[in-house]
Amino acid sequence: MKKTAPAPESAIRIRNLQKTYANGFVALKGIDLDIPRGSFFALLGPNGAGKSTTIGIVTGLVRATGGTVEVGGFDTATHPVETKMQLGVVAQEFNFGIFDTLFEIVLNQAGYYGIARSEALPIAEKNLRKLGLWEKRNDQARTLSGGMKRRLMIARALMHEPEILILDEPTAGVDIELRRGMWDFLRELNAAGVTIVLTTHYLEEAETLCDRVAIINRGEIVREGTMKSLLSTLDQESYVIETVEKPTESQMKALKTLRPILAGDGNIEITLKDTQSFDEVTGKLRDAGLTIHRLRNKANRLEELFVQLTK
Ligand SMILES: Nc1ncnc2c1ncn2[C@@H]1O[C@H](COP(=O)(O)OP(=O)(O)OP(=O)(O)O)[C@@H](O)[C@H]1O
Ligand SMILES: [Mg+2]
Repeated sequence: MKKTAPAPESAIRIRNLQKTYANGFVALKGIDLDIPRGSFFALLGPNGAGKSTTIGIVTGLVRATGGTVEVGGFDTATHPVETKMQLGVVAQEFNFGIFDTLFEIVLNQAGYYGIARSEALPIAEKNLRKLGLWEKRNDQARTLSGGMKRRLMIARALMHEPEILILDEPTAGVDIELRRGMWDFLRELNAAGVTIVLTTHYLEEAETLCDRVAIINRGEIVREGTMKSLLSTLDQESYVIETVEKPTESQMKALKTLRPILAGDGNIEITLKDTQSFDEVTGKLRDAGLTIHRLRNKANRLEELFVQLTK
């Protein structure tokens, strides 16, 4: 049964989190964030927004200069062991020994968490198989492709069967087919109860996978909530219209109340407010003697919101 009010228990609770790096750069300006247990959470933001810094602090790799982080109710500053046991982390940068074999990498990880080898073996096999790496288990990690290395990081992060999995750009450099496979894998984990937090620059990926999202910009959370509620705040949408005939200057003039942009390829771009109906566009195009050949959204909806909020 789905839990409703009161607010769902937080897997991760962040309050007034601040980070000033040694060189004086203020990367986090006091952020608050609640990541509900069981959610599939996207932390989005442009390059340098503070995503990896936030993840670094949650996972104990970066020291905060202010504020608190709780993981499953434990303060990360006072209970580092309890928090680490609950977290699986896939960092943005590859961070395994490249001369070690895949099997050594995942089994050693289990060792760090005090898991007996006999217990670790079936977990390693299950995850390496699911991530398509089983055949490579005795190869050195340096022989893997970029996408395989990223999947190895996921297999390693899951060795101690954490309740929360944090992935910093897990699909960067992963081809489309593998990415979809990875989505299915992450969905399966989430359905089994694992809270998943990911950062990605593929907004379509976030929109497809995640039920909650926070957008961070220059060290501040600019928007946070369910994916649905966020997308419903979008008050305009842009379309690309390909007409049968290339629009002439006078036809473009006839459309001027729509404030169209004629793109280099002859397509017409139009941005509609929430209050405007697409009927208005079809009518004006017809009056101008233009026939729609094809029509598409210029960007996906999350992308549009993201650009509005972070520009
Ligand atoms: N060790 C460091 N010393 C000084 N500044 C740092 C350090 N690490 C990160 N920064 C700065 O902090 C800001 C936030 O960096 P962070 O890596 O958290 O961004 P991000 O949101 O993960 O970006 P990306 O999408 O590029 O991965 C950036 O301006 C970065 O240059
Ligand atoms: Mg980053």
